Amino acid sequence: MTPPYRLQGRAAIVTGATRGIGHAVARELAAAGALVCVTARDAEVVRRTAAELGGVGVAGSVADPDHLRAVVDLALREFGRIDVVVNNAATNLPYGSLMDVDPLAWREAFTVNVEAPLRLVQCAWHAWMGEHGGAVVNVCTEGATHVGPRIGAYGTSKAALLHLTGQLAGELGPRVRVNSVSPGLVRTEMARFVWEPGEEEVAAGLPLGRIGEPEDVARAVVWLASDAAEWITGADLLVDGGTRVRSAGTTTAYTVHERLRAHEPTQGRGELRDQPPPADRRRTDLGYHLPGA
Ligand SMILES: NC(=O)c1ccc[n+]([C@@H]2O[C@H](COP(=O)([O-])OP(=O)(O)OC[C@H]3O[C@@H](n4cnc5c(N)ncnc54)[C@H](OP(=O)(O)O)[C@@H]3O)[C@@H](O)[C@H]2O)c1
Repeated sequence: MTPPYRLQGRAAIVTGATRGIGHAVARELAAAGALVCVTARDAEVVRRTAAELGGVGVAGSVADPDHLRAVVDLALREFGRIDVVVNNAATNLPYGSLMDVDPLAWREAFTVNVEAPLRLVQCAWHAWMGEHGGAVVNVCTEGATHVGPRIGAYGTSKAALLHLTGQLAGELGPRVRVNSVSPGLVRTEMARFVWEPGEEEVAAGLPLGRIGEPEDVARAVVWLASDAAEWITGADLLVDGGTRVRSAGTTTAYTVHERLRAHEPTQGRGELRDQPPPADRRRTDLGYHLPGA
């Protein structure tokens, strides 16, 4: 299928682009004609993803400011421009009651989910976008505006990302538009522990009758990044299958919250995503540390 929005000749950076939503975003951007620069921590998968998409890539954690500078340098060196930045990489750790959360792990969630998007936009702005214009899309979450069991660090950091989106939109216009997309439950590794134990049950509670696929979110990101959204900035686009409005059509409890309640922080050391970071990062990645783990 021909992508409806053309991004021919534009250049895009997508963080966390080797699987899940970020991978779908990078794929859709490339299909729309954009040159893509992908990032994630696993160097071999970054290399493969860049090759698959005919783009470039650099491995590292978004928590590392040097990595973010390297990403912008690479995109500029290879493409000569940076039109689109998609802040997608995130951590959903530390998991558990906030009273038990290690404040250093809490800080890491904010480093990855809030500080990194700001730093990357700063780098792209100073290197190219501030002069030439562009579009930023932050991947937030449907849960950013309300509370949920055991995901306090994730939720508050994503709420901060939502606020950052609006703040940047106000500061960077008219040249740069800044928007966010807020997914509901999507079939990715990060959320596997929620959807896999009984997908039908979760789907049945949603007005649109199914959980999300990464492509559902990717299409929204590409649309916001394209000229079709040229008069939109500071917006948050919910892509949640009707999660936010489900209570009008169901009398059952919210299955996603039931799953979160049932998932013990100590299970699998509270890892809500499947793949551990590369071995050399395990020592310092506080996102993987949970009290008592
Ligand atoms: N899935 C859902 O239901 C859902 C719902 C709402 C919002 N979201 C949001 O959607 C975004 C993507 O999530 P996803 O579900 O697609 O996750 P995912 O399947 O776990 O993929 C995460 C991607 O980010 C990379 N990554 C993780 N930590 C990183 C770091 N510190 N630095 C650089 N790259 C990193 C991963 O590769 P490496 O491990 O190799 O680094 C991978 O490419 C996140 O912002 C998440 O909060 C997801």
